[in-house]
Amino acid sequence: MKHLASADTNNDDGEGLLVRRIKNGTVIDHIDGGEALNVVKILGIVGTTSEALTIATNVPSKNMGMKDIVKISDRELSKEEVDRIALISPRATINIVRNYKVCEKKGVEIPTLIVGSVRCPNPGCITRTNEPIRSRFAVLPEGKGLRCIYCDSVITKDITSYII
Ligand code: CTP
Ligand code: ZN
Repeated sequence: MKHLASADTNNDDGEGLLVRRIKNGTVIDHIDGGEALNVVKILGIVGTTSEALTIATNVPSKNMGMKDIVKISDRELSKEEVDRIALISPRATINIVRNYKVCEKKGVEIPTLIVGSVRCPNPGCITRTNEPIRSRFAVLPEGKGLRCIYCDSVITKDITSYII
């Protein structure tokens, strides 16, 4: 038997030693330090969830200073979820794990348009009336903010608090 459920030992600086490897699921790695709880929020995981979740925050990283890691067992992410993660952590990597092996690794890409998952801050915006209109935000260069394409309201800070 190989070291199936052993803790990570693949980094000599101790990065990753805190958290166990998972058998099946998704590891979201290289999350900006301190953003892990926002990633969890984006995934819609709330207190009563039954999902197995591991969160490590402010782990020393060779390339990033501090990074966060979120591991979710037995779940893969939708493109919409990955796009929202890109907004708050453009350097994140998504690792799909099957039978303890990383079988797919991809970066995230900041989308150019976010449809339906962000609430416009303007209470008068047509997307906040009873009209059946989904919100649409254009992503500003480098993901520096979001602009509502209906009313031009701009969100630059604390984007996660507007995520529906
Ligand atoms: N991982 C895990 N469980 C597994 C396999 C991997 O939790 N069964 C985690 C590792 O701890 C790491 C991430 O998934 O946080 C990516 O694993 P791997 O590609 O082996 O690590 P690195 O080569 O360090 O990744 P990168 O090059 O992306 O930094
Ligand atoms: Zn608006």
